[in-house]
Amino acid sequence: MLAQEAIAGGRTAILLKLALVRGPAIMAPAPPALPPKSSMDRYAVIGNPVAHSLSPAIHARFAAQFAERIEYVALAAPLDGFRASVERFFREGGRGANVTLPFKMEAFELAHVRSQRARESGAANFLARREDGTIAADNTDGAGLVADLRDNLGMDIEGASILMIGAGGAARGVIGPLLGEGPARLVVANRDVERGRALAARFASAGQVESCALDRIPDTAFGLVVNATSASTLGMPLALPDESIFRPGVLAYDMAYGANARAFLERAAARGARACDGLGMLVEQAAESFRLWRGRRPATREVIAELRAGRA
Ligand code: ATR
Repeated sequence: MLAQEAIAGGRTAILLKLALVRGPAIMAPAPPALPPKSSMDRYAVIGNPVAHSLSPAIHARFAAQFAERIEYVALAAPLDGFRASVERFFREGGRGANVTLPFKMEAFELAHVRSQRARESGAANFLARREDGTIAADNTDGAGLVADLRDNLGMDIEGASILMIGAGGAARGVIGPLLGEGPARLVVANRDVERGRALAARFASAGQVESCALDRIPDTAFGLVVNATSASTLGMPLALPDESIFRPGVLAYDMAYGANARAFLERAAARGARACDGLGMLVEQAAESFRLWRGRRPATREVIAELRAGRA
């Protein structure tokens, strides 16, 4: 079954085909059926689950800004069939794909060429088919976070003290680009101390990075506190004993968005911090992906505002 949504934009109508995607934890042997071929340039976000992804709506809006005709679908890959799904998508004419949980590391591994920022993070959320048929991988998550902080939220990252809570894939994907902005200090606080230490060591040559346990956070006036744990998405309470990190003048940022981010943001706001979810990061990483595929960077503010207003 296909749900079709027509969005009128300028002279062009963008036809957005949303593939019906399956529920979580599917283990089907064969790659999922692809939507019928079309003459439009084809893109996809591939994940599992992916049914509620906002990416098709975001990219439809980007394309409309330039009166371009593209097709961008949400594609659920079986948990044991990511590579087969990607290969089939590109074999059948796909130009590029965004990759979301849980496949970002597999996406990195299957690519033939990897950008510096993909190599730094060991994960890819961006794939593109090159002229010769090989696949290039990049990671636009960190650039998306930096763009949201700097351009949308007015944060001056240079010289700031940053507390990164979490040391998993989400944190690893954004630390390099954050350090690229020249913060004074970045502290990785993680429940599993060894994991935090290993992550800090991975980025030691890129800036001033330290690590600590979640209950040993240094008493520094952090300007930015980022929640990069999966606690938000899993709906679990964040094991963060000391709330004094949240104070007026601090930007508390959850990389999750919407209802998933609420618990963390309410905790931060209750102590006077400015609290923001990761919706802007989602749109900005998409804009960076769109730019890499199509050579033009779309405007993002209105798209973020529309999504916040629930008009997507
Ligand atoms: P992702 O790819 O989404 O980052 P991950 O690699 O599994 O997922 O990493 C999850 C991160 O969230 C880890 O830093 C994890 O802490 P541990 O390394 O100590 O497991 C962190 N995390 C998950 N649930 C948490 C919770 N309830 N409180 C604190 N940290 C949590």
